[in-house]
Amino acid sequence: MVTTTLQPLDIDGIDFASDDRPDLHEVLAKLRSQRDYAIVPFAGTRAVLLLTQELVAAGFRDEETFPSWAAYTMATKPVLGHTIQCMSGREHRVNRAIVSTPLRRNHVAQYLEPIIEPAINELIDRFAHRGEADLVAEFTQRFSLLINNRMLGIPVEDEQRFYRWAQGLIHYPWDPEEAKRCARELTEYVMPIIAARRIEPGDDMISRIVSATTEDGEQLDDEQVLSFVRLLYPVGADTTMLAMGIALAALFTHPEQLDLLRSDPDEHLEWAVWEALRWEPPVALLPRACPEAVTWHGIDIPAQTPMVFAITAANRDPSVYPNPDHFDITRRVTPMVAFGQGPHSCIGNWLAFAELVAALRTLLTRLPNLRVAPGAAGAVRVTSQVGTALRGVDTLPVRFDPA
Ligand code: HEM
Repeated sequence: MVTTTLQPLDIDGIDFASDDRPDLHEVLAKLRSQRDYAIVPFAGTRAVLLLTQELVAAGFRDEETFPSWAAYTMATKPVLGHTIQCMSGREHRVNRAIVSTPLRRNHVAQYLEPIIEPAINELIDRFAHRGEADLVAEFTQRFSLLINNRMLGIPVEDEQRFYRWAQGLIHYPWDPEEAKRCARELTEYVMPIIAARRIEPGDDMISRIVSATTEDGEQLDDEQVLSFVRLLYPVGADTTMLAMGIALAALFTHPEQLDLLRSDPDEHLEWAVWEALRWEPPVALLPRACPEAVTWHGIDIPAQTPMVFAITAANRDPSVYPNPDHFDITRRVTPMVAFGQGPHSCIGNWLAFAELVAALRTLLTRLPNLRVAPGAAGAVRVTSQVGTALRGVDTLPVRFDPA
């Protein structure tokens, strides 16, 4: 029998769509100790929050029950367009195959020397002589945006305009008019670039996407390319930017782990990035929806129920990660659920990983004795950003020996 009503709330006084809770991990751990899911307040209604590694991974993989389009058609389509997150079945397979090819793991290394490392060094050049900086304002907020632009082949002199567009797009639920303006301006800017690359392709990502053909001879039309370009700013640049701030904050607030990393970067660097992605995944509480009534893993879920996939709780599931709240770079785990799972899992994970590893390595090499500025330790903390879904740090005031 299918159910029509959701069980009563397990917790009140916190909205899992919009609230920033400094004690989020404690709240999630307490709920998880009672049951592997919880009924929680969400944007004025009630949602099912999945709390364990097993349930979150199963939820992601179950595209039948929790189709990606059901959430994104409402949450992002009005501003980003009909992106691959709104697609399913064959349409999704065709579009995803084309746009993911340039981002495959074996393609990513080729972007390091020409794009990723120069963008990182360029930003560090601006403040390395000063001996102090706010690494959020001057580095993390910028680096993945620069890399995104340069991979797409956007002319360098226009890069400044993209910061506002990227910020505007991701704040759609809070300022829909500004988000739509940004989407319009970005679209008008990118259209002629797409047209030019169709006539004369280069080796940038837009050229590769407009030139690619599937096995059945299909190509993407302009709107399909445009919606992918619009999508890349929130899902590619913003997520990686938050992950970078978190990785630095994790190391600064665990000086013994930073010392260990410094003692042998070749041994520890990649694992430090994975551990940061586990400890505080930037996509923390991912909203989904359940369009049809169902009993799923013993949970009665009425039609049209909002779902929240608590990646951040899955990554601290004590049945998978012993002593889960402890940030420990010797853990050596790859928490892939930080990038989703199943048909809509992240296509940019290897690019993001390469960016994060390269940035961390370069910052530690080029800024000797890098440390939190005196008196600023209290400001270095992970908080909710853009609603509860994403997490990151607002500021990272640091000192180092000037170059
Ligand atoms: C640390 C950085 C990143 C994190 C934590 C992250 C996380 C995620 C997650 C959790 C999803 C699944 C969303 C869902 O199922 O609703 C996703 C999807 C996606 N990501 Fe990432 N991502 C990151 C970086 C990137 C980068 C660098 C790119 C591209 C340049 C990218 C492109 C995408 C795309 C296009 C999708 C949608 C795939 C589809 O619907 O088929 N991401 N990402």
